[in-house]
Amino acid sequence: MTGGRKVAREPKTAYRMASSSTKLLVAAIDFGTTFSGYAFSFRHQYETDPTKVSGKVWHSKTGLLASMKAPTCLLLKPDQSFEAFGYDAENKYSELALEDEHKKWYYFKRFKMMLHDRMGMKRDVELEDELGKSVSATKVFSLAIRYLKNDLLQNCKDQATEIYEKDIHWVLTTPAIWSDAAKQFMREAAVKAGINGDALEIALEPEAASIYCRHIPLQRTEKGGKVSVETFSPGSKYLVLDAGGGTVDITLHEVTKDRTIKELHQASGGPWGGTRVDEEFRKLLIKILGCPVFTKFQHNYMDDYLELLREFELKKRDIKTRI
Ligand SMILES: Nc1ncnc2c1ncn2[C@@H]1O[C@H](COP(=O)(O)OP(=O)(O)OP(=O)(O)O)[C@@H](O)[C@H]1O
Ligand SMILES: [Mg+2]
Repeated sequence: MTGGRKVAREPKTAYRMASSSTKLLVAAIDFGTTFSGYAFSFRHQYETDPTKVSGKVWHSKTGLLASMKAPTCLLLKPDQSFEAFGYDAENKYSELALEDEHKKWYYFKRFKMMLHDRMGMKRDVELEDELGKSVSATKVFSLAIRYLKNDLLQNCKDQATEIYEKDIHWVLTTPAIWSDAAKQFMREAAVKAGINGDALEIALEPEAASIYCRHIPLQRTEKGGKVSVETFSPGSKYLVLDAGGGTVDITLHEVTKDRTIKELHQASGGPWGGTRVDEEFRKLLIKILGCPVFTKFQHNYMDDYLELLREFELKKRDIKTRI
């Protein structure tokens, strides 16, 4: 963990959330650097199987990509009001670019880490869109969270009877390495997005991942010659490494006798996610082509530029290493 930054502790409410909450539903939003998604679980579902959650499968236009998360892309109209999120935002912006009508619109992608880089003591920061136009970070984050919240509620309504806001316990995850200011910013953006602050919990991404790992069968056990895979037994120590797009987050936990989780080491990590690879690719192109040519390409041929990034993403995922 050399170079990693230790984090200020968040209250460990995530550990007791599901058992102490009297709410009917837990609705969680994972706001990622590259991909975001959500999941929800009713109290009775959690009690039967804590790993059973409902979510949404998002599809790219070409159908090449389908997953439980959508790209963290936000498209705003020229008057800065919401237009689209996820694959819809990507597609619409590409279409606008093809017609050279995109320049007055605001397109944000991978903006989560800007918060990590810039959130100092200031109450708000400005974020630059794909073409360098600024919008307040609060607006960008709250519009994106509002979209995810509303889509979750719609998805939930489609599956069940009417659910009221007062029945919901909201969870929003943040990287472990984020400062308290950045976590507080996320809370405020969520409240601005219409989430009731009293029913909102900010949880650390790797802690949420660790709680999930604690509930799934991962440990190989052998009893009387019979081999089986079970959940971690009391006393087991395990490390979760969540390698994301923006950050790599690490937690080290132990399963206690009563099967709760004890933290053995403060959650840590660093800004070493997959987008660092993309950034190096971008730097390589600038080195080869020169900054003026690259900027011209990005500004005047935005649809080709976006296509190049999509292709790179697919290629990156295809690389195999021999062990
Ligand atoms: N097979 C793969 N090989 C290499 N990189 C991959 C592969 N699959 C996904 N990635 C990279 O992982 C990142 C996406 O991971 P993930 O969805 O966990 O991130 P995230 O939740 O958006 O980010 P974070 O949690 O850091 O905010 C992207 O940078 C993507 O390019
Ligand atoms: Mg993530």
